[in-house]
Parts: sequence; structure tokens; C-alpha cells
Amino acid sequence: MKKEVTKIGVLTSGGDSPGMNACIRAVVRSGLYYNLEVYGIMRGYSGMVENDIIKMESRSVANIIQRGGTILKTSRCKEFYTPEGRQQAYNNLKKLGINGLVIIGGDGSFRGAQIFSNEFDIPCIGLPGTIDKDIAGTDFTIGFDTAVNTAVEAIDKIRDTADAHDRLFIIEVMGRDAGYIALHSGIATGAENILIPEKKTDIDSIIKSLQEKEKRKKLVNLIVVAEGEEFGGVELAKMIKERMPLLETRVCILGHIQRGGTPTCFDRLIASRMGYSAVESLIEGRHNIFVGILNNKMHYIPLDEAVKKKQRISEEWLKIVKILAS
Ligand code: F6P
Repeated sequence: MKKEVTKIGVLTSGGDSPGMNACIRAVVRSGLYYNLEVYGIMRGYSGMVENDIIKMESRSVANIIQRGGTILKTSRCKEFYTPEGRQQAYNNLKKLGINGLVIIGGDGSFRGAQIFSNEFDIPCIGLPGTIDKDIAGTDFTIGFDTAVNTAVEAIDKIRDTADAHDRLFIIEVMGRDAGYIALHSGIATGAENILIPEKKTDIDSIIKSLQEKEKRKKLVNLIVVAEGEEFGGVELAKMIKERMPLLETRVCILGHIQRGGTPTCFDRLIASRMGYSAVESLIEGRHNIFVGILNNKMHYIPLDEAVKKKQRISEEWLKIVKILAS
């Protein structure tokens, strides 16, 4: 028999992403609208294990929709990956009577939710909050749009100085296992080459294309590299320098700037829709799923499935990069 959800907890876990606050706000206010008690769990799964849980009211989430970071704070909690840690977390939730959980985070956080929901009788709803967009079953993740726009703004600025000096710039963007930020920002800024972890880097062909462009006096070149690509920006610059010593090369690592800042309208919108949908799912008994958006419609995928799948890079996009970079 379906158990009624009356008290829900919400947490943010893993790397923060712009729009998490808008999502927390949506969960809290939707929960209150449906007469649920809502609790904020601090620092991701750590707050569950350590019983750092606070009651949320409508005013608790006032004036946060436009702020980056997460008012609930976040962490990558090692204890939660032990059976003892999860038992402790469950006991703490039980004591408060929490009988539904909303987890806003990336694939690691979903794995935690999947294990927890298989072990205990507290339904979990995952919401994809990560700048990396590396979750299959959703077209977008909360924070990706903001991160990409931050990268684009920075790369445009780099292009100005690259142009002034006729230099090659290698720009490293975030993405430990995924090349989406690199691919989107690289196409949008007209990068010559985009290197991502999902595709083996062919250094010979990069050198060849740079030499060919040098012959044509095309001296401004931008290469966008994802952090998780096999060489990374610094190593790549060294390899190019060895083979083309006269080419002036600089490296710029954008780093955590991509994780902060005011969320874009798009991120606030999907965060709000997903947050509402998580609460609706708990009430309607759609349990142990994550809520994504596919073709602009809400999409519900079992957590057991979600953790097994990887988002695929489109071959068509890679082809576009090659054609447009000539
Ligand atoms: O949240 C995703 C991400 O930003 C990755 O792109 C990056 O590799 C990682 O987090 C960095 O994590 P941390 O901030 O813990 O160093």
C-alpha cells in the first residue's frame, strides 16, 4: 500500500551548481503548498549522518532564487558510502519523521540515493544539479547553462587578447569525466579544436591543423580542453611547444569560476520546474526516480537505471566543430 508522505527533507550534494538555490526554494514552497513539513539537510549527506537538519519555512528561502551556491551547503560525504553511515542517516530521519527525500546533485549523489532507497523505506527523488551535464535521461542539468555562459564570456575575452598578439590559447574548462562544457562553449566561441574525455585526442592531427593554419596566416587559434581530457591544458601546451616552438602559446584554466555566479534564467526555470515536480512525485507515489526534462517535458527515470547510463556525446556536434573551424 502507498504510504502517505507528510514530512520531506531536501539536500544538495556533490559540487554545487548555479540554480541549486532556486531548486531548494521550489521544493520548500511546493512542499508547504501541499501542507507538508519541509526540512533542510545541511552539507549534503553529511547533515543526514550528523543530524544537522533544520525546519524550513517559506521565508527560509526568500531572496535566494538569484543566488549561486547553495544555502544548504554541500559536501561529498564519505561516511554515507558505508552501511553504518547510511544506518545512522536513516535513524536521524526516522527520529524527525521524515518520510520523503529530495536530493539535488550529480551522478555520485544519485548513486548514494539509489543505494539508500534500496536499503530503507524512505522514498527518494533525485534532481540533476551539476554543471557537468553528465546525466543520461535529461537534456539539461541545473547549473550547466550558467557554467557554459560563464565559460563563453571568459573565452570571448581571451579571444580579444589572443587576436591582439596572434597567439594560440588553450583554455581548460571544467568537466572531470564529461566534455559538455567544453563542447558547448567551444562551438559557441568558434574554437579550432575541442578536446574532451569521451574522444581520444589525436595530437598529430592537432599539430597538422595548426601548421596548416599557420601557412594560411590564421594566427588566432583557440583550443578548448575539458579538465578530464587525457592531457589537460598544461600538458597539451607543452606538447605543442615541442613541435611548434615558434608558435606563441598561452594556457588559461578557468576553474571554479564556472561553478559560481548568478544562475541564468534558463537554470532558474528548470530548477523551479524540477523542484516542483519532485514534490508532486513524492505525493503521487512516483518513488526512487530522478526527474529530468526531455524535449521540454518532465521525465521520470528510476534511480536504478539512471546510475547505469551515461550521457552520450553527439557525433553530429563533433562533426560541426570540424567543419566550422576551418
Ligand atoms: O561539479 C562538477 C565539477 O565541477 C567537475 O567539473 C570538477 O571536476 C569537479 O566538480 C571539481 O570538484 P572540486 O570542487 O571538489 O574540486
